[in-house]
Amino acid sequence: MSTTSNALQQARAISAGMKIPGRKMAFEFRPDDIPRHWNDNDAFKSTFMNALSCLFPEGERMFMDAVREHMHLIDDEVLAEQVRGFIKQEAIHGNEHALYNACLKKWHYPIDKINRFEKNEKRWMKKWIPASHRLAVTCALEHFTAIMANQVLTNPDATAGMHPQFKELWRWHAIEETEHKAVAYDVYQQAVGRYWLRVLTMINVTFFFCLRTSIYQTIFLWKDGQLFNPKTWWQGIRFYFIRPALVRRIMRQYLDYFRRDFHPWMHDNRELVQHWLTEEQSFKTL
Ligand SMILES: [Fe+2]
Ligand SMILES: [Fe+2]
Repeated sequence: MSTTSNALQQARAISAGMKIPGRKMAFEFRPDDIPRHWNDNDAFKSTFMNALSCLFPEGERMFMDAVREHMHLIDDEVLAEQVRGFIKQEAIHGNEHALYNACLKKWHYPIDKINRFEKNEKRWMKKWIPASHRLAVTCALEHFTAIMANQVLTNPDATAGMHPQFKELWRWHAIEETEHKAVAYDVYQQAVGRYWLRVLTMINVTFFFCLRTSIYQTIFLWKDGQLFNPKTWWQGIRFYFIRPALVRRIMRQYLDYFRRDFHPWMHDNRELVQHWLTEEQSFKTL
């Protein structure tokens, strides 16, 4: 047996052992107490995270639908149970990010317009894009989320200057994205399994994910009067390439997705979940 297939078998075994509990959190966001540039007093970093947050409520719903629509093809009871946990977690993420986004609305960002666009687009996708392709989109975005979550949890520069009210939410979301990072992927492999669809979708998703995040962020920076400030652009270069160096640090894991024998648990970071669980007890398991 080759080393590669050993790695894949190991990853699958880790995946099968993952428990995915839904957790009810008790976040409270008080926009009056949170500075607008809540992430390290840095306009670029704050608006980047805000742009991501705007993708979640509708995005998570699309993920849940795509996975649900393939459930009839899954006869593995362990995976079926993980899917139920995945749906619980994503539903709660969507709700918590909607509350976060309500803070952004209070800061006079055009959140209603963004939400309307997101909703219409997902409706359009459900009508016109086959379920198998939407599941491939889900896998690609779950991979993005998982590798960024890993940065939130392991790179102190990524979270050091965050306001505690938002930091808690991002850390919790990162933990659950880590826990369930392989669920949509395992469903895809069992129910669809097409390699080329998976990787071509990743290329497509990378383009549109970066484009959309940039557009939302540009709107926020414009609203803040920071769009044409050279300092903002320096903050951006620093953020992507120097510290926390997001692009540089996720690149290798991102590229692993293109391997034929890829599995999300080849990046084994279960210890992060364990560590968070020993620190954090202020939730109710559902
Ligand atoms: Fe999520
Ligand atoms: Fe997720």
